[in-house]
Amino acid sequence: MPELELETREAEAAAAGGAEKRAYVRRIFSEIAPRYDLLNHLLSLNVDRRWRARAIAELGIARAPAGTYLDLCAGTLDVGAQLVRTPGFAGRVIAADFAEPMLRAGRGKASATLLVPVTADALELPLRDGSVSGALVAFGIRNVAGLDAALAEVHRVLEPGGRFVILELSTPRSPLVRAGYHAYFHHVLPAIGGLVSGHRTAYAYLPRSVANFPEELALAGHLREAGFVRVRYESLTLGVAAIHVGERDSVPRVHPAR
Ligand SMILES: C[S@@+](CC[C@H](N)C(=O)[O-])C[C@H]1O[C@@H](n2cnc3c(N)ncnc32)[C@H](O)[C@@H]1O
Repeated sequence: MPELELETREAEAAAAGGAEKRAYVRRIFSEIAPRYDLLNHLLSLNVDRRWRARAIAELGIARAPAGTYLDLCAGTLDVGAQLVRTPGFAGRVIAADFAEPMLRAGRGKASATLLVPVTADALELPLRDGSVSGALVAFGIRNVAGLDAALAEVHRVLEPGGRFVILELSTPRSPLVRAGYHAYFHHVLPAIGGLVSGHRTAYAYLPRSVANFPEELALAGHLREAGFVRVRYESLTLGVAAIHVGERDSVPRVHPAR
């Protein structure tokens, strides 16, 4: 089988959540790290900056302005850097990602005492129970092999009353928007992404991973299943992305006697 075809099949299997997803995701993000920022802003036509700002606003930092916050799947630290600069923010951000080259590519975006990069897997965070005041994940949760385990891990590290915000790409519901989105995502984006990153299949993985990710309503259900309360969500830019918000209950859940 030709090499390109093999790589494409590997990308498809990973996007479908196959056993090799974790290793594949870690490898491709490590490989595209030097070009990630450029491609991100180019391919999202720069709306990603606006979406990140909206997600940060949902964190509700006024509840604990000097707290410790988690930027999960932090990549090149865009969210963390934006968060530490948010007016009123007086805390610090732990930026966790398992692809160390991504964290390295973001070095210098903020002081390392305020924005602390940590090489860690989302499924095994080196954080104590209830130790963070809020958590945010931008364009990352879809890439984690094990959605429910990752949600449970975030719930574990959040303090009671803390919010978890998910910013993620989504599939638009309107058939018209869906058609344009499909053409862009499945044809234009992989072509430009492949060319600029020099990685032939990483940007073929992206649209497939979005297609395989739970739709907005279903993702809200996963959050509730993981124990989050006051779960809500909103679609952004014609449904191309969505923000989900959930909270760790301030009153511990009482399990009925058996
Ligand atoms: C699309 S990037 C998003 C980066 C950044 N949050 C942003 O807004 O640009 C997804 C990131 O998730 C990370 N990632 C995927 N699975 C992970 C896991 N299990 N543990 C830690 N990081 C993970 C990847 O290494 C990658 O840096």
